[in-house]
Amino acid sequence: MSAIGPDGMTRRGVLATGAVTAAMTATNARARVTGAKSDPAAGPTPMPLTFEVNGKLVELSLDPRTTLLDALREHLRLTGTKKGCDHGQCGACTVIVNGQRINSCLSLALMHEGDAVTTIEGLGTPDDLHPMQAAFVEHDGFQCGYCTPGQICSAVSVLQEIAAGVPSHVTGDITGKIAATRAEMTERMSGNLCRCGAYANIADAMTQIAEAQS
Ligand code: FES
Ligand code: FES
Repeated sequence: MSAIGPDGMTRRGVLATGAVTAAMTATNARARVTGAKSDPAAGPTPMPLTFEVNGKLVELSLDPRTTLLDALREHLRLTGTKKGCDHGQCGACTVIVNGQRINSCLSLALMHEGDAVTTIEGLGTPDDLHPMQAAFVEHDGFQCGYCTPGQICSAVSVLQEIAAGVPSHVTGDITGKIAATRAEMTERMSGNLCRCGAYANIADAMTQIAEAQS
């Protein structure tokens, strides 16, 4: 037997009323959509985008909701850039835009009109590795490799940030002469997560490159 509430309705009655209300709301929403002049199911009108990717001029026509990550992976087939969380939390999607690293999952592609984007494919090739890629190989800076393209793009940018004197979060140094210490580098790499835990080896690889550049 159903329990009766203070207002005299049974629990089953409350649930049934809720279900009917939800169904009516959905029906009304569908009616509003059907009555609209444009067809929302077709999505927004595609918009043009011209930008540079790995040194090549690229023209695309994209749904304005497309992220930079999806533009790279799904439209340009540059699948080296990885989708981890798709929420700006893991760094797997890191690419370099106009010299600065960004999470490409958090950025709409159309915001990059005229920009220069570098992905892992643009840093080096299997026959001609970027020094940071070679250092990751030498120091076993990866295991499964899923986070690695983002780690390497970030690592390259981090050393450029340090060389450019981007203020330190570790020492608070704003002098413009930031030392590429292990603590400095690992702090700046903290947005790039590695589920395999290759952090120590990544730091070793970065240290090698930082010392070679000093
Ligand atoms: S996929 Fe972009 S931060 Fe995780
Ligand atoms: S190497 Fe596997 S997640 Fe980093």
